[in-house]
Amino acid sequence: MGAIIMSGREVAAEIKGELKQKVAKFNREFSQPVLTVILVGNDPASETYVKAKGKAAAEVGIRSFLIRFPEDVSQAELIHKIEQLNKDPEVNGLLVQLPLPRHIDVQSVIDAIDPRKDVDGFHPLNVGRMQVGKKAFIPCTPFGILSLLKRYKIEIQGKHAVIVGHSHIVGRPMAALLLNENATVSVCHVYTKNLKEITTMADILIVAVGKKHLITSDMVKPGSVVIDVGINREENRLFGDCDFESIKHIASYITPVPGGVGPMTISMLLYNTFDAVQSQMKELTRV
Ligand code: GUN
Repeated sequence: MGAIIMSGREVAAEIKGELKQKVAKFNREFSQPVLTVILVGNDPASETYVKAKGKAAAEVGIRSFLIRFPEDVSQAELIHKIEQLNKDPEVNGLLVQLPLPRHIDVQSVIDAIDPRKDVDGFHPLNVGRMQVGKKAFIPCTPFGILSLLKRYKIEIQGKHAVIVGHSHIVGRPMAALLLNENATVSVCHVYTKNLKEITTMADILIVAVGKKHLITSDMVKPGSVVIDVGINREENRLFGDCDFESIKHIASYITPVPGGVGPMTISMLLYNTFDAVQSQMKELTRV
């Protein structure tokens, strides 16, 4: 018996369809939501992601702008632009595509973004609010994974979720979200000594490290749910962090690469952007 393939592509299209209707209504009654993306340099992967974000925004009726800076832009200039965009009432959502060049301190740049426009959910205020289970912008990839688990009606409460990778973009926020759902959560990373011992305990295994086929079938518990966040490019082909072909015979659910988590991430960015514009409108009309 093989695993059910979780189609992020299909679920993401459903979410976009729902959003498109809501955005159209909002646009008729108020204005068109605006997402602004800042891209520094010409990293090919970032170029691809930014293009995909712009295309998906257009599909649901969100206007998007791309602001480009050269690789050698100064941190001060970048932050100055963010401060301008924070003040611009026409900008509802704002994100800086990562990674940034080494001479720029990423956290200082994230800290400069108005938390009310922080549709990536990376600002410390949103990170903290999410930790305590209050309303916050949730980082798009973990938010997409949670939405995918829910759409496939996968039970989370009481399950052992193992996350491989402790990044600020995926692993850490994923752990917080799953804890909020009452899972038992283990987080493994590059310094974990007994990785296989821990991954084989997982009812839900989420892998986000960026290492082709790090997880092989002997590291997976039979019947578990495997979520692969990896996007590893090799000779114009994409590979996940999990060896899909062998694991699909063991797991009960598995996400493919491509067509799994990736499309979900973008849909959640659009979801967050619409959430931002609605909150901002409420703030404006509050008496
Ligand atoms: N680079 C990789 N993932 C992301 C993301 O979710 N947001 C931003 N801004 N940059 C990224």
